[in-house]
Amino acid sequence: MRDVLERDHEELDGVLGELLLALDHGDPDESFAQLDLLWARLAVHIRAEHLCLFPAILGAPQAFLPGSGGTPRLEEVQSAIGVLRSDHDFFMHELAKAVNLMRAMEGISDAGVVKETLREVRSIVLSVRTRLSSHNQLEENQVYGWIDVLLDETGRSALDAHVRHELENLPLRFIGVAKNSHN
Ligand SMILES: [Fe+2]
Ligand SMILES: [Fe+2]
Repeated sequence: MRDVLERDHEELDGVLGELLLALDHGDPDESFAQLDLLWARLAVHIRAEHLCLFPAILGAPQAFLPGSGGTPRLEEVQSAIGVLRSDHDFFMHELAKAVNLMRAMEGISDAGVVKETLREVRSIVLSVRTRLSSHNQLEENQVYGWIDVLLDETGRSALDAHVRHELENLPLRFIGVAKNSHN
């Protein structure tokens, strides 16, 4: 099941790359389209982790959390999930700021204003990319691995179905735009 979330990380990286390319080309329409897609897809990914992954891991029976034999201690799990949650808040806050900057630019043809807005948006996107990279490493190298350690087979397959379902819940305007390869 971790491969579903890791594949989603890769696809998010791809959208981020397209967004930076559009910003570098100074293309406001394409930049806005890619930013909107990144914002929606990251929101869906984060919602899947909040609604499915975190409760499943935190709800694992205490017997699974003795802190020995490769299993994490409860405090370790809580602390890592606390870091991930605050990263998620940062991503959503910063991308909302970038979306608002782009919206405020709509209808403005002044080349200087457009250039300055794209520069500001680029700087926000770069800060998101940097923090997202270490965030995804923490998930892929540690937290996603706890699924196999903490959940039994029934728990893992329920989580797998729940995550797949949530990842398919993209807003309607993106259906057909975003390649969905979660199946
Ligand atoms: Fe995350
Ligand atoms: Fe993630």
